Amino acid sequence: KVVVLDFGAQYGQLIARRVRDLSVYSEIVPCDVSADELRRLNPSAVILSGGPASVYAEDAPKIDPDVLNLGVPVLGFCYGQQIMAVTLGGTVGHTEKGEYGAAQIVREGDSSLLGGTPDEQTVWMSHRDAVSEVPEGFVVTSRTETCPVASMECAERNLYATQFHPEVRHTPHGNDMLKNFLFKICGLEANWNMDSIIEESVTAIREKVGGDRVILGLSGGVDSSVVAALCARAIGKQLTCVFVNHGLLRKNEPEEVEEVFTRQFDVDFVHVHAEERYAELLAGVTDPEQKRKIIGSQFWNEFFSVAQDLDGVKFLAQGTIYPDIIESGARKTGGKASTIKSHHNLIPFPDGVHFDLIEPLDRFFKDEVRALGTALGLPDHIVHRQPFPGPGLAIRIIGAVDPEKLEILKNADAIVREELDAYNARLFEETGERNGEHSVWQYFAVLPDVKSVGVMGDERTYARPVILRAVESSDAMTADWAKLPYDVLARISGRIVAEVPGVNRVAYDITSKPPATIEWE
Ligand code: XMP
Repeated sequence: KVVVLDFGAQYGQLIARRVRDLSVYSEIVPCDVSADELRRLNPSAVILSGGPASVYAEDAPKIDPDVLNLGVPVLGFCYGQQIMAVTLGGTVGHTEKGEYGAAQIVREGDSSLLGGTPDEQTVWMSHRDAVSEVPEGFVVTSRTETCPVASMECAERNLYATQFHPEVRHTPHGNDMLKNFLFKICGLEANWNMDSIIEESVTAIREKVGGDRVILGLSGGVDSSVVAALCARAIGKQLTCVFVNHGLLRKNEPEEVEEVFTRQFDVDFVHVHAEERYAELLAGVTDPEQKRKIIGSQFWNEFFSVAQDLDGVKFLAQGTIYPDIIESGARKTGGKASTIKSHHNLIPFPDGVHFDLIEPLDRFFKDEVRALGTALGLPDHIVHRQPFPGPGLAIRIIGAVDPEKLEILKNADAIVREELDAYNARLFEETGERNGEHSVWQYFAVLPDVKSVGVMGDERTYARPVILRAVESSDAMTADWAKLPYDVLARISGRIVAEVPGVNRVAYDITSKPPATIEWE
């Protein structure tokens, strides 16, 4: 495996992704890992990521110098090159102008890392500091007009580094450099693929679980569904999937989840009909955070009341994925990625109840989880499901939730999804990109707590508006409203008003995030 030392939030993740895309397993550790800890991970190669700091800043992250003496090849990018240079006795200084964006490198002499790539090529730079003198034993392998050491290497010790970022797409030959490193320099094999991942995961689950029983809270979302499918492959009926139906899912969703996990997978499936209990708890509640709290805590009440009635449950399976682990670690260590799992403490086990956790997805990024789901036979509507909030439609009904409003919202939302699913499918066909630049990332209907006057036939109406929300985003942190074609908007509006009783208007939310959020509550 390749271990990436992360010198700053997010930099390491992208590198690990690129390595995995080349079918080599890669994981991320904080940059202050000791050489001994690193040796225990038994890496075949180490990559030092970029990072936002200056090597001479007071709190600049350092590395244990022995990391460079493990006897495995090391590759550093950007800050990674600078820290390698400084640690080994080279010098880093300010360049005159700094370099941000595309730059031209010119190669010098032979280089195993750059081998097979053009003598002059475009790379992506983002730095002010740069190596000015390479450490003893190193040679400069490329430069730019501004940057005297755009890359350097010491083939004898298997140490390589670039000031530019081969991991970003804006360095067109970056992937070739990474391939040179992994396959030529480190001699690794490209064997991290779906078949081997499934096989390894299934073996690991079987070994851990033995003859015991596993319970899983299945929400119908991507992560919990993939865990269920994976455990089903590994242990079949030893898995109990508890599906707590709070009545706040989208139209037909509970039926679809039940269908998949009773027909397609051979697991023990428990459908908890908690719709009425949730309705009672939510009656009259208008505050969004209060709704979230009630829905979240009732989930665990429902879940544990099933769990406690089952005999011999030793494990609770969870759909924790790799970014959750990296993030919760990052919070604990003040910004740097780490493998501490703080979110474990969040499960409110009742007194006297305890299950060991299994988290079969804790090494995977989201799109790997999706690929795994597809390989395990889950249908597209689950694997490519949009993000959907745990509290469900309760936070898309502004004000108190009641059965009438729920019915209106479910029907309006079903139309929005049908029309925009079709629109996205057309874009997918045209561009071949599922989450392409113009495809709509998340879309749904919101029901505000107002009524307005309208006219239908010859009758005055006094009914509800529905708000359409459709956004483009890649990570939900920021989002822009989707510039939907007028004919698509017209169709959605026409259908909702005609087909959903109680609605006489449709409005489109044209606000980005920030300043708004994606959801209305
Ligand atoms: P906002 O509204 O904060 O949403 O822009 C960002 C993303 O998170 C989803 N979301 C939630 N997911 N529980 C969840 O599991 C929640 O309470 C929740 N609130 C928002 C939202 O759908 C969007 O994708």
